[in-house]
Amino acid sequence: MLHVAIIMDGNGRWARDRGLPRLAGHREGARAVRRVLEAAPGLGITDLTVYAFSSDNWKRPPAEVSGLMRLLRQFLDGEADRCIANGVRVSAIGRRDRLPGFALESLERAERLTRGLSRVHLRIALDYSSRDAIAAAARAGADSREGFERKLIPDVDLLIRTAGEQRLSDFLLWECAYAEFWFTERKWPDFDGGDLAAAVSDFHRRQRRFGAIPEPLAERRDIPA
Ligand code: IPE
Ligand code: IPE
Ligand code: MG
Repeated sequence: MLHVAIIMDGNGRWARDRGLPRLAGHREGARAVRRVLEAAPGLGITDLTVYAFSSDNWKRPPAEVSGLMRLLRQFLDGEADRCIANGVRVSAIGRRDRLPGFALESLERAERLTRGLSRVHLRIALDYSSRDAIAAAARAGADSREGFERKLIPDVDLLIRTAGEQRLSDFLLWECAYAEFWFTERKWPDFDGGDLAAAVSDFHRRQRRFGAIPEPLAERRDIPA
């Protein structure tokens, strides 16, 4: 299993740099999701979680929010067949009760059509707040580490954030406990399969220790503990 999570950032700046409306950046951003999804299986990625809309993004102007929701519907409706053909299971994390009906309908349709597929699991974080997800898990009865693990999503191996920002913005706080972080200046609409390959190959060069000490050192008996 290889779980890659992406904070897709910089759509607005990408558009601004070109004198375009922010929504043009979001539209290009949706194309980047498709590129990444195509590249994922070849890189050994089994789980891909993308941050599409945070619970704090409701603070944006209504026109941008409704444009994002329309793009979401277009993406889900347009990609469903390709996902089925490529064995991609689609689901969402986050709150559903505040999504517009048309977006929820497309989401549930994509989920239904791809439910049995297992080559790659694409999770789209929508109206998502990690702190809210953790609080909801607790309200639903989680009171131990295993309990929270059952209610949340699998641990993230590699967390990518684009556009030069280096923060989590309330994304997968629990699941990133031992994630490796990879940041790039590239803005999300410019991100492609090559960037994803670079991030994954960097990840494979890292040594993850999970609090232990590196193997060779552990075996040396001449160093007192
Ligand atoms: C990421 O791009 C997409 C969403 C948050 C929906 P932004 O819209 O945050 O782009 P910048 O950060 O303003 O450039
Ligand atoms: C985080 O990006 C949310 C998504 C990528 C969907 P933001 O652009 O909203 O985050 P901040 O405000 O820069 O932290
Ligand atoms: Mg941003």
